[in-house]
Order: sequence, then C-alpha cells, then structure tokens
Amino acid sequence: MGIDIRQIHKERFSISDELIRIFCPYRVCPLGAHVDHQLGLVTGFAIDKGIELLISPTDDGNIEAYSTNFSGKTEFNVEDVPERRHLWGDFLQGAVVALSNKYKMTVGFKGIVSGTLPVGGLSSSSSVIIAYLMALCIVNHIRLTQKDLISTAMWVEKNYIGVNVGKLDQSCEIFCKKDHLLFLDTKDDTCELLKTSSQMPPFEIAVIFSGIERKLAGSAYNRRVDECKAAAYALKAYAGIDDNDFQDSFLRNVPFGLYDEFKMYLPDNWASRAKHFFEENMRVQKGIKAWKKGNIDEFGELIFESGESSIYNYQTGSIHLQTLHEIMLKTTGIYGGRFSGAGFNGCAIALVEPGKKEEIAQFIRNEYVHMYPRLEHKFMIDFCKTSDGADLKLFA
Ligand code: GLA
Repeated sequence: MGIDIRQIHKERFSISDELIRIFCPYRVCPLGAHVDHQLGLVTGFAIDKGIELLISPTDDGNIEAYSTNFSGKTEFNVEDVPERRHLWGDFLQGAVVALSNKYKMTVGFKGIVSGTLPVGGLSSSSSVIIAYLMALCIVNHIRLTQKDLISTAMWVEKNYIGVNVGKLDQSCEIFCKKDHLLFLDTKDDTCELLKTSSQMPPFEIAVIFSGIERKLAGSAYNRRVDECKAAAYALKAYAGIDDNDFQDSFLRNVPFGLYDEFKMYLPDNWASRAKHFFEENMRVQKGIKAWKKGNIDEFGELIFESGESSIYNYQTGSIHLQTLHEIMLKTTGIYGGRFSGAGFNGCAIALVEPGKKEEIAQFIRNEYVHMYPRLEHKFMIDFCKTSDGADLKLFA
C-alpha cells in the first residue's frame, strides 16, 4: 500500500497551493559493479521505485522537510546552512551547499520526502540528492544540464557526505529509459541506451531485501577505492611509468597487458581488486553482446559471475547478501542475480521470469528465513520493471 504524501503534506503544512512533485527512480546495475570509480564500463536500469518529494516553495528561503522513512525534521535557511548533523537531512543540506557554490538561492521549500523501498543497494542516497537538487533548481529558477546535475549530485556524495563514489548511480537515474539497458563508459561518458530485443523473453527485476538496512559505510567503500587506486599506481610504477600521480591513478588507465605482467608483485588484496576490475569490464563487454542478441540466459549467467567476483575478489557483500547469492543460484526462474550496489547490507537483485514470481518469492523467503529466523518480518521481496530516469521536464 503506497503512502499518500499529499495527505501528509497537507496535515503537516496546511498549504492549499498547488504542490510540486518530483520523482527520482532507484537504479540497479546488473553488470559493471565497483568499477565506476576506476573509470570502468557499467550497465544499469532505472526501476519504477524511487524517491518521491512533494514541495511548496517558501519565499523567505526557509526549508522545512520531513521524511516518511526517518524521524525528525530538517529545518534551516538556504542562505545559512548548519554544520552536518549526520542525519538524513545531511543530503538536503549538501544539495543546498553544492548549488550555493555556484548559484544565488533565495527560495526554500516545505517538503515531504518518501523512499519506496528499504535503504541499501538501490542508490537511494543518489536519488534523494537528485530529487533535492531538482526541487531547489525549480524553485530558484536554476537551469542545470543533465551532466551538471550528475556532477553536482556526485559532488554532494563525495565532498559533503564523504563517500568516493563513481558516476554509476547518478547517470542511471538521469539517463535510463524504460525497456532499455544503459551502457556507459565512465571514462569518456559515451553512453548507449540498448532497447530490449524483441527476441528476448520477458523479465522483471526482483529486489530482495536482506532485512538489514545499509548504514552509511563510507570508510569501507573508500578503502576499496583506495586499494584499486593503489593497485593502479603500483602497476604503473613496476612498469617504469613515471607520469604517476596517485590522485589520478585509475585501473582503467592501466593496460591489461601491464596488469598481467606485473600482477604477481601486488599484495594479494590489491591484486584481487584489480582482477575484479579487469574481469568485470570484460563481463560488461560480453554482457552487452548477449543483450543485443536477446540472450538473457547468457546475460544472467554473467550477472551471477559478477556477483561472485564482488564477493570473492572485491571482497564486499555482507554475510546476509552472500547467503542470498547462494540461494539465488539454486532458485528456478532466475536468469541471474547479485547483491546490489556497494554490498554493505541492503538488497540483492535478480532478473526473473515473470511467470515464476510467486514460486521465486516463496522459495527464497523459505530458504532465507530458515537461515535467519529473526529476520522473518524484515525480509522482503518486491518485483519491479525498468523505468525512465528522473523526469526533468519540470526542472528544465
Ligand atoms: C555505490 C556507489 C556507486 C558504485 C556502486 C558499486 O552504489 O555509489 O558509485 O560504485 O556502489 O558498483
């Protein structure tokens, strides 16, 4: 049953003016995990679940916002942003700070924000930041291009929240299109929307919530990013390349041959991160070919392999997500599945046969709850369809 945020807005603020509704979808990334921060190749879908934000502008610049997912209110003025509070309102504060760096803002809003699925792996942070940026741009008549919107949203995550993300989430949430797979090269931003082939059997996207929400796992995420950068830096150094600047070290800039020749000198964990990077890029390329042919079985197989590599080479994926991975591998009706996002709790995703949804949901629930009975009431499985990225019509 959906939450009626219009009603909540009315009860909270008693405003009868017309309200502005903003929606930013979540994303799932079937192939191309953990490679965006190393300028790798990624794929993604936006899904028909996401962040809804309903606002009415305030001329005095005051912001007052409530969330249906978290308690407390966020209140400040766009011209006087308080210190970070390490609460949900940080994302809103960060959006204001990012825009204020470049634009004069005088208008705030009274808003209700609501996320439609549990937090963790579906890029709710990026969706909520994009929704706030869109709201602030609309009420302050700021025009951003799609690329500006992506880079501003990334600025908030990296510089305000402190997680060294790549551009996967923001790009999917802006560029994706219903019934298309987004294929993006995060090095040069070339991007293709690949329509689902008419040869391909139908599929839906299962979102399987482990029962444990993600907490902001910035330091663990950042450690992995640093390990990748360190591997890139060391590999170039072993090869005698001296244009080496750590900040600009990305595995994408290391030729495969060089990795292959020098990988044995790397510490084990750096070597594993690099292995994940190079193999994942190859999987994306294979996956794109399979997708174009309408071969969902091969595409799905690659998703399972990608999940495997995220667990064993990239060494993320909580114990609960690893259990879900094992269960998905033996579930009939799943083409392919993996944990979603960075892997710090939250959800797994799978491409599934629509006709088998009920059996799939039942089987996974039984197996999972058998392992973790205490999560019985928190475990959740939902089925989504692909969707368009955020609707920027209002915003432009
Ligand atoms: C998070 C980050 C993304 C990406 C994924 C893993 O969602 O925000 O930039 O690194 O993890 O693929």
